[in-house]
Amino acid sequence: MQIILDCDPGHDDAFALIVASKFADVLGVTTVAGNAPLSLTTKNARIVLDLCGSSVPLHSGASRPLVAQPIHAAYVHGESGMDGAKLPEPSRPADGTDAVHFIIDTVRSNKGLWLVPTGPLTNIALALRTAPDLVDKIAGISIMGGGRFGNRTATAEFNIWCDPEAAAAVFDSGAKIIMSGLHLTHQIMATPKRIEMVRGAHKTVGPMLAGLLEFFSKMYKSLHDDFAGAPLHDVCAVLALTHPELFTASEKHVVVEIDGAHTRGMTVIDDRHVLSRTKANTRVLETIDADAAFAIIVDAIRACPQR
Ligand code: BDR
Ligand code: CA
Repeated sequence: MQIILDCDPGHDDAFALIVASKFADVLGVTTVAGNAPLSLTTKNARIVLDLCGSSVPLHSGASRPLVAQPIHAAYVHGESGMDGAKLPEPSRPADGTDAVHFIIDTVRSNKGLWLVPTGPLTNIALALRTAPDLVDKIAGISIMGGGRFGNRTATAEFNIWCDPEAAAAVFDSGAKIIMSGLHLTHQIMATPKRIEMVRGAHKTVGPMLAGLLEFFSKMYKSLHDDFAGAPLHDVCAVLALTHPELFTASEKHVVVEIDGAHTRGMTVIDDRHVLSRTKANTRVLETIDADAAFAIIVDAIRACPQR
């Protein structure tokens, strides 16, 4: 399974990178501004690739959304985008700053790969706009974003809310889409027991990752009245491809609201049963076997090289 992971690390993006490094053929990683400014999400991606022992190409991309003002998420990820652990400095800088053309070139020379965005969809929308032929060359796009409820607002999930115009273009592109929305990702929480599994999975990387999850969970718990820990949102978009047996899903038509006074950034899922409903464009993931998924995450951490 060949993929390009487009991310904004981000605690949960880090776990997506680790799982992808073990279970997918990662042709490259691209970064986007989202949880933190682009310079930080790029640095964080570089650090996590080092932890995985991965030398895949890393290219930074969009430093702001297409139309919306750039807003970051220090309120859940801290100022660095990955607060909570003493992490090593990255061993090398990014390989380039033109993620969009890296995506275009890589897709054109590797037909049938999956794009896996786990941040705002700016880079992906720009790539599809610049090179519309990509839609027919990729296998599809496995997105962490949206859902049947929001987190940044009552109706909008953070990644979609950050850049609704980009998200609207991606859902409307004609590409096959798999959506890991909040109604799914909230089923896989970093509970205290699971954080200890992470800590014990690797002598050096385990404690760092456990520190990240402790911080992430502390933030989530402080912002909600009923959370057992932070959801590992982004890892779902990778597992959807590498371990599809973990999920149940339904085929739906999904559009992104860009105008609504209360609903800007909402993924509108057509759950109607009427025969006249619009043809499905998205596989909406509904449930995940969280314990089995977590065991796979722990396996991926074990595969990190000893440092
Ligand atoms: C998404 O927003 C970010 O905070 C996470 O990394 C995830 O991609 C969840 O809404
Ligand atoms: Ca993310």
